Amino acid sequence: MHKYGGLGVPPGRRLYQVYFHTSRGGCGIDYEAARYEFAIVMRPLGMVVAAETPAHMRVCFSLPTSAESSMAERASLLGYTEAIVRLAPRPFRGERWRIRKVGRWLVGTQRWRDQLVEFTEVYVEDRRASLANAPHRRPFLIARNGRVVSVKGERLHRRLSHRDAAFLVNIAEVRSAAAVLDPFAGIGGIVLQCRARSIRVTCGDIDDTLRPGLAQLADRRATVLDARRLPFATAAFDAVITEPPYHPRDRAAVIASLPELTRVVAPGGRVVLFISEEMDSGTLRAATDAGLELERQFAVRRQGLQSRALLLDKPPAAAGEPGAA
Ligand SMILES: C[S@@+](CC[C@H](N)C(=O)[O-])C[C@H]1O[C@@H](n2cnc3c(N)ncnc32)[C@H](O)[C@@H]1O
Repeated sequence: MHKYGGLGVPPGRRLYQVYFHTSRGGCGIDYEAARYEFAIVMRPLGMVVAAETPAHMRVCFSLPTSAESSMAERASLLGYTEAIVRLAPRPFRGERWRIRKVGRWLVGTQRWRDQLVEFTEVYVEDRRASLANAPHRRPFLIARNGRVVSVKGERLHRRLSHRDAAFLVNIAEVRSAAAVLDPFAGIGGIVLQCRARSIRVTCGDIDDTLRPGLAQLADRRATVLDARRLPFATAAFDAVITEPPYHPRDRAAVIASLPELTRVVAPGGRVVLFISEEMDSGTLRAATDAGLELERQFAVRRQGLQSRALLLDKPPAAAGEPGAA
């Protein structure tokens, strides 16, 4: 198949090419993971893949003509999509064409066989906004010496990039009014992404100095808690999305929290964990022992730290059990 899927655009649809982020500075995800995230967000609009070029982190797809503005809006919530370009082919009638490269993509018109293709940017990631959201840039309120002060996230050594936080929330695939818990919330990277999607997020952390900042981000639904004994009812949430601590001294507490994380999720719900690769096998075993099933996992590189996003499902309740339909 040609890289543009032969440019055969079915009636009532438009063709687009999406550029996923390539790895930079040892950070990022591979093509399959970026495509998975993209498809989850765009599938409800009627996306159909036309051609794939994984080596260039690109995919070509079509959408109904009416879906273009919703697509651009949804794209701004993606962690790993850099740009989307519309490809509009029409018969070539000998006219002059002009094309230029912008970043990794083309803009303008170009002849391809007997067609003239118009390349138009319909979405380009707002780099300034994404930098402002970066954990070392955004201010966060902490309690210090009996006062509440504003600090920058980097100094707190808890940093989930906004890209990875967006990726986790997107692959969790929760609807916008869903109830989500982040029980290892740190400075609230996941909380912010949930809020951006109108998800009802509750959060907590064992570190009580973080409470003012988390309360501000989560509209007061923030608690000082120990994830091993969660102060929430059984099945209170549609999903848990969280990044537990990495330090080996916390490993036992993370493993011990898994039955609790599973308990507070409703049957048929989801648990998304972002962990380091070395925590992988122990965490996965504890999660399956607690009753979760591994749906998928994705490798995520973070400046030399190999991490994993685990997508775990809590099976629906069997007939006769509490929570069964
Ligand atoms: C890797 S950080 C989470 C960072 C977060 N995703 C963010 O965007 O800032 C892990 C957090 O877990 C918290 N933590 C450690 N042990 C805990 C426990 N038993 N219960 C709840 N939180 C705990 C730490 O205080 C830390 O803030």
